[in-house]
Amino acid sequence: MIDLRSDTVTKPTPGMRAAMAAADVGDDVYGEDPAVNELEARTAQLLGKEDAVFVPTGTMSNQIGIRIHTEPGDLALVEGTAHIVANEGGGAAAISGVTIRPLRGVRGVFTADEVDAAVGVSHPFKPTTLSPPPRLLCVENTHNAGGGTVWPLESMHAVCQAGRRHGLALHLDGARLWHASAASGVTEREFAEPFDTVNVCFSKGLGAPVGSALAGGRALIARARRFKQQFGGGMRQAGVLAASALYALENHRPHLAEDVRRAQTLAKGLATLEGIDIDPADVHSNIVRFSVTSGRAPAFAEACHAAGVHMIPGGARGVRAVLHRDISDEDVARALDQIASVLPQAVPSA
Ligand SMILES: Cc1ncc(COP(=O)(O)O)c(C=O)c1O
Repeated sequence: MIDLRSDTVTKPTPGMRAAMAAADVGDDVYGEDPAVNELEARTAQLLGKEDAVFVPTGTMSNQIGIRIHTEPGDLALVEGTAHIVANEGGGAAAISGVTIRPLRGVRGVFTADEVDAAVGVSHPFKPTTLSPPPRLLCVENTHNAGGGTVWPLESMHAVCQAGRRHGLALHLDGARLWHASAASGVTEREFAEPFDTVNVCFSKGLGAPVGSALAGGRALIARARRFKQQFGGGMRQAGVLAASALYALENHRPHLAEDVRRAQTLAKGLATLEGIDIDPADVHSNIVRFSVTSGRAPAFAEACHAAGVHMIPGGARGVRAVLHRDISDEDVARALDQIASVLPQAVPSA
């Protein structure tokens, strides 16, 4: 099976397992795990922030980010298809009591005008107590539902400046910031620079089995540690996991451009197939989203699965394929052959 469902399906390599087995560990709730401390320092340094906190998942990292910037009743501006809106179980409302005002984006990218419009204009005729106070702006880079979109640096700065003009805190969901950097040549630190807090994941693309981090200023991350404990994220000898992330940063991060190149190969191959709609120019990183032009995506994905290619259907026509370190050039070529072979059945000509 060529598993293109997600870049989270990777298995730890022998080198990574050896690093995990050899990790020097302690009780992280007491701040005594050397591998966790090293990972937090390394992540903060890579992102140009004062500190970082290691947490089990990207969802927890984002939710802690939201919690530390807001109080119940506050307003957060988040693009409408972002992971925080669509795939975190309503956590922002349930955990932080936050109202989300979804912004309209194009493949995940929105404009400063969208931010201005969502905040609105105050006027003495309208009591300021009516609206939920806007407190937080979130950006996702790369944007998953947008198709792995890499934010242009200027667009990102423009929305961040708009956020600052309105006094908003800025959070970056950089679950795949590593891929944004590999695809664009812009460093993670440059992407992270305007933000107060940044979530990064070690378990997507980088190949670690578990783990994310929230980076930011020292005081904010001290506050984040409080909520990590409150959310049940306090782990003990977590250095076994941190060691896998340190290994991934050192040994796997330099190769992420391979995923981006293979995503382009897949996208360009798909673009030649009748019954599939995709513009390879929309594929910026390791996520390939395309549509079937007749027939239904679920039936198409099931036919591909039966032929040995596992992908996720989304909606009536959409399909997602994600490149990752366990997928080779040969796998991409084989996947294209298998997809082409099922198209006539999945897409009836009538
Ligand atoms: C953009 C984005 N943010 C956050 C997450 C959440 O990460 P986790 O699955 O580790 O909770 C994901 C997961 O795929 C994601 O794609």
